[in-house]
Amino acid sequence: MFLMDFFKKMKRLRLFEPSLGVLGFFMVAVCVIFCFFLLDYKAVVKGSRFFAASDRLLWLKFDVEGGEKKRVRKVDFLSEEGGGCNVFEGDWLWDDSYPLYQSKDCSFLDEGFRCSENGRPDLFYTKWRWQPKDCNLPRFDAKIMLDKLRNKRVAFVGDSIGRNQWESFLCMLSSGIPNKDSIYEVNGNPITKHKGFLIFKFKDYNCTVEYFRAPFLVLQSRPPAGAPSNIKTTLKLDQMDWSWSKWRDADLLVFNTGHWWNYEKTTKGGCYFQEGLEVKMDMDVDTAYERSLQTFFDFARRELNTNKTQVFFRTYAPVHFRAGDWKSGGNCHLETLPELGSSLVPPNNWDKYNIFTKVVSAHFNISNVKAIDLLNITHMTSRRKDGHSSVYYLGPSVAGSPPSRQDCSHWCLPGVPDAWNELLYAVFLKHENLQLRNLHFGHMNDS
Ligand SMILES: *[C@@H]1O[C@H](CO)[C@@H](O)[C@H](O)[C@H]1NC(C)=O
Ligand SMILES: *[C@@H]1O[C@H](CO)[C@@H](O)[C@H](O)[C@H]1NC(C)=O
Ligand SMILES: *[C@@H]1O[C@H](CO)[C@@H](O)[C@H](O)[C@H]1NC(C)=O
Ligand SMILES: *[C@@H]1O[C@H](CO)[C@@H](O)[C@H](O)[C@H]1NC(C)=O
Repeated sequence: MFLMDFFKKMKRLRLFEPSLGVLGFFMVAVCVIFCFFLLDYKAVVKGSRFFAASDRLLWLKFDVEGGEKKRVRKVDFLSEEGGGCNVFEGDWLWDDSYPLYQSKDCSFLDEGFRCSENGRPDLFYTKWRWQPKDCNLPRFDAKIMLDKLRNKRVAFVGDSIGRNQWESFLCMLSSGIPNKDSIYEVNGNPITKHKGFLIFKFKDYNCTVEYFRAPFLVLQSRPPAGAPSNIKTTLKLDQMDWSWSKWRDADLLVFNTGHWWNYEKTTKGGCYFQEGLEVKMDMDVDTAYERSLQTFFDFARRELNTNKTQVFFRTYAPVHFRAGDWKSGGNCHLETLPELGSSLVPPNNWDKYNIFTKVVSAHFNISNVKAIDLLNITHMTSRRKDGHSSVYYLGPSVAGSPPSRQDCSHWCLPGVPDAWNELLYAVFLKHENLQLRNLHFGHMNDS
């Protein structure tokens, strides 16, 4: 109950703009309280007497033993018994052994994702680990992943949230490489925004980790000849983005789209929707989004060799603007804790997700084989209102004076996208294990 009060106080505190002094005091207080509980918990575990006392810790779901000792034994996702586990259903647990890397040690991060370096005072958002309800995930191990990716290509295709995830993946992998000079962009390009694509090579492993900017996944280009002058560009809802031939043969593909499918990023700027040779002046953006997803899944079935390529589609990552949207003063500043219970996500987040679910279930219905894996992160991510860049996307200089616009779409790194990549890692390894097992059994049958 004491902790309940404590969180309520935190929530109340958030209503004021606390001065740095208050914030400092607050941080110290929180540290003291955490230390207190750490000691308390260890005593409880060792003595195993005061079960009533440990219950409140259970309620909080803190994993103060650093994730090594689990109170409740669960099967490992990678074991054979873990096969049916839905890794996307679970909880965020406090885990002191996180984060997996520090932003200052990773040169592959956009400045806008370096929240702590840009003045964010709390580090709570780096400490939450995703714990599936019915099984345990393997902790990310860069060496294991790099070994599996030897001589392989990984490509992320999508919008800037996909880029957020790609940069997280680069940092996670590079944490296993002492000589950072052995990782380089093959064309010598720096990490800057608005590049069409970037290809980072991990020389020692002959592996590349690539990003292709394709926010709609389908092709955006000039309108057909003779179109009215208010049509600046069109989205060809029946054709994939121009870059498809470049990434089609990658060994691991991670797609996402969603955040650009709105009026501001399309029709308002003179970008209309086209099917065949016809510009559909009256088509609404949700219909266009649905068509584009159908095009993507048809393309994937037709053009991707899923025997060779592991294909992932990451679902929509929720935004958390309070009291407005990105252009009308919406904010997520001073959110320091996840929703530990049910989430309070603005309902417009679910529109995109629901359209996606509809297309996906129809697709899995006809294609029978589930050749594409979903990184079904929308639900888990909806609870992480604390993980966004908020005012810390503009570099250290603005820390004192919050700008009028906050970024409640992108994520601080280290942070939430690391958890998506740990899920990617787990499902990827699961496939590799299955393949090995099948090879093994195939071999036994031959003999
Ligand atoms: C995604 O995960 C959530 C939470 O486990 C689940 O309710 C939902 O049905 C899943 N969606 C899909 C398309 O698998
Ligand atoms: C490096 O990886 C590529 C595939 O990404 C492969 O075609 C090439 O043969 C590999 N090179 C060596 C030296 O193994
Ligand atoms: C993939 O593997 C299956 C089974 O081994 C085979 O029947 C199928 O033709 C393969 N598909 C491609 C595109 O290689
Ligand atoms: C999937 O297929 C079943 C039977 O073939 C059908 O009843 C169901 O409506 C289909 N679902 C979707 C989403 O198309």
